[in-house]
Amino acid sequence: MISSDIGKAVEALQLNEVIAIPTETVYGLAANAFNESAVKKIYELKQRPLYNPLIVHIKSVDFLPVVARDIPERAIALAQEFWPGPLTLVLKKQEVVPDIVTAGKDTVAIRIPRHPQTLALLHELDFPLAAPSANPFGSISPTTSAHVERYFGDRLSLILEGGSCDAGIESTIIGFEGDQAVLYRLGSLSIEDLEARVGKIETRNRDDHSPLAPGMISRHYAPSTKTIVSENLIDSIREHSNKRVGLLLFEPHSELHFEGPTEVLSPGSDLKEAARNLYAAMHRLDQLGLDLIIACTFPDEGIGKTLNDKLKRASHDQ
Ligand code: TXA
Ligand code: MG
Repeated sequence: MISSDIGKAVEALQLNEVIAIPTETVYGLAANAFNESAVKKIYELKQRPLYNPLIVHIKSVDFLPVVARDIPERAIALAQEFWPGPLTLVLKKQEVVPDIVTAGKDTVAIRIPRHPQTLALLHELDFPLAAPSANPFGSISPTTSAHVERYFGDRLSLILEGGSCDAGIESTIIGFEGDQAVLYRLGSLSIEDLEARVGKIETRNRDDHSPLAPGMISRHYAPSTKTIVSENLIDSIREHSNKRVGLLLFEPHSELHFEGPTEVLSPGSDLKEAARNLYAAMHRLDQLGLDLIIACTFPDEGIGKTLNDKLKRASHDQ
């Protein structure tokens, strides 16, 4: 059931049920992070492998020491600047966080979401919420309650209505090696913005067998329709002219002369707007029964880097 009744959400969570919650990034599948059997239900619903840990959503920076310890100074600086907001910090965990949340790791991923409904909800609870994105493992993340309903329907007692997600792509994940900040996942906060606060953020070249964030496998966020990323749209459209093709464009493109379904993510060429619209556009194209989705590349700066990363994963090895 879709409802904006926070009281109902509180009740369900206190009964250790799983509900969907809106955040500024994407909708999440939430349960009491301190209750093992509630968290187990999230993995089952999502069909998510148990080696892939969840993000713990807390209500305030004051709550941070309850779930994390040995917190580096740079982590505190980032938390103060960007929380509530689309930044997840991976820190050493406190005993109170069950192993099922962290997949047995001695670290825990934490953030304070910026969505007013979910912040209000967290303030009504005396436990934090473990929540991955509310999509079956590997598929496109949901940015509206309707997307969540399509995925999970009656299997959720409640989907808390929060409108369309404002940022539209997942949080940026940062871990630490000592006091050095390291990028674990590109997301809706740009590296440039983070570096302006804490200096250089390292990136590590890791392969699929040992990603820094266990969920960062190559094929991810994927529509069921085959998707390719093209640097030259005119050539790609010509090459696939015998197929039912849909286009995913950053900005309007006047020379394509393409008649088929086309999603323009930002008429004014704004990367933030494109990020906000990306998943909903992918959901729409994916529902058309096409043979192929051809996506453009984005300028390789700011969250353009994130958008390129998401599309690379969506198009991987189909
Ligand atoms: O924006 C978001 O972050 C959304 C909303 C709902 O908050 N959540 C989200 O969760 O994207 P999920 O589960 O789809 O992605 C969490 C990522 C996974 O790649 C997981 O492997 C990584 O965080 N992660 C969680 N705990 C970790 C840890 N202790 N160490 C390294 N990576 C971790
Ligand atoms: Mg996810």
